[in-house]
Amino acid sequence: MSSKLGIKDLTSIEDLTTEQVWKIFRLAENIKLETFAGKRHHFLEGQTLGMLFQKPSTRTRISFEVGMTQLGGHAIYLGWNDVQLGRGETVPDFARVVSRYLDGIMARVFAHEHIIQLAEASRVPVINGLSDLLHPCQGLTDLFTMWEKLGSLDGKKLVFVGDGDNNVTHSLLNACTKLGVDIAVGCPKGFEPRNEFVSRASEAVNVTITNDPDEAVAGADAIYTDVWVSMGKDEERAKRLKAFAPYQVNAALVAKAKKGAIVMHCLPAHREEELTSEVMDSPISVVVDQAENRLHVQKAVMALLMGR
Ligand code: CP
Ligand code: NVA
Repeated sequence: MSSKLGIKDLTSIEDLTTEQVWKIFRLAENIKLETFAGKRHHFLEGQTLGMLFQKPSTRTRISFEVGMTQLGGHAIYLGWNDVQLGRGETVPDFARVVSRYLDGIMARVFAHEHIIQLAEASRVPVINGLSDLLHPCQGLTDLFTMWEKLGSLDGKKLVFVGDGDNNVTHSLLNACTKLGVDIAVGCPKGFEPRNEFVSRASEAVNVTITNDPDEAVAGADAIYTDVWVSMGKDEERAKRLKAFAPYQVNAALVAKAKKGAIVMHCLPAHREEELTSEVMDSPISVVVDQAENRLHVQKAVMALLMGR
């Protein structure tokens, strides 16, 4: 099944061409402006999105559900342990059946392989709402937000400070690759991003991976951080808090970035761990606008993948 975007699923930003990313951004920008002007976009009237969650969520759950309502459709929450997956039904069996009822599936899972299995077995579009490996809707929204806040992405540099080996960092690397944005990652030894994403990004843009946070933030137009203990990593908490302590995004670190740099975070934040309240609540922080943009960007993604 082909869509208005030309692909069936969004499992990774690597599924998209640069042109497809811009198609999403332009539609998201239009939808955002027109929604504020009171226009309705019932592109998905009568359609239903199934939202499968194996992990908790605030933003993803609410923005997808509200997005479906605003597009004239409906969304249903499917907790992993509320459906038969929790009792051993296989992911492909689940996908084959529920895609006979649903018009789209958004899934948040631990194993990225489960996103791939869902996409392979489902008749309808599958959208990755976060796996241990990737968070593509977040990465797309983040570059959309940079574009909106900085006016252009040309010659810009995004700097991620903290856990380099996580879903958000990987999707930021992928997004920067598609959009020609330079990226630096400042992280402790042993927490560097996966080489597959670094090497593909290095072919397209300037990539710096360093253990020195000061070196990373030099020349930054946007400084980004994420929690030090991602969902599912709780048993490593003590080790991580120690390793990441020198990588806190605070006023002293931000002062080393470019003048006018913005501060970003996918949220939820652990205040005074990866990000101080002083910075998070300051005028250079765009975290709440960034969270809002999840709604606009995902509406564009759903309209393009599910729209008839
Ligand atoms: N950023 C993000 O995905 O937030 P939630 O975990 O609240 O969905
Ligand atoms: N890296 C974080 C992102 C949360 C939106 C996690 O996986 O918990």
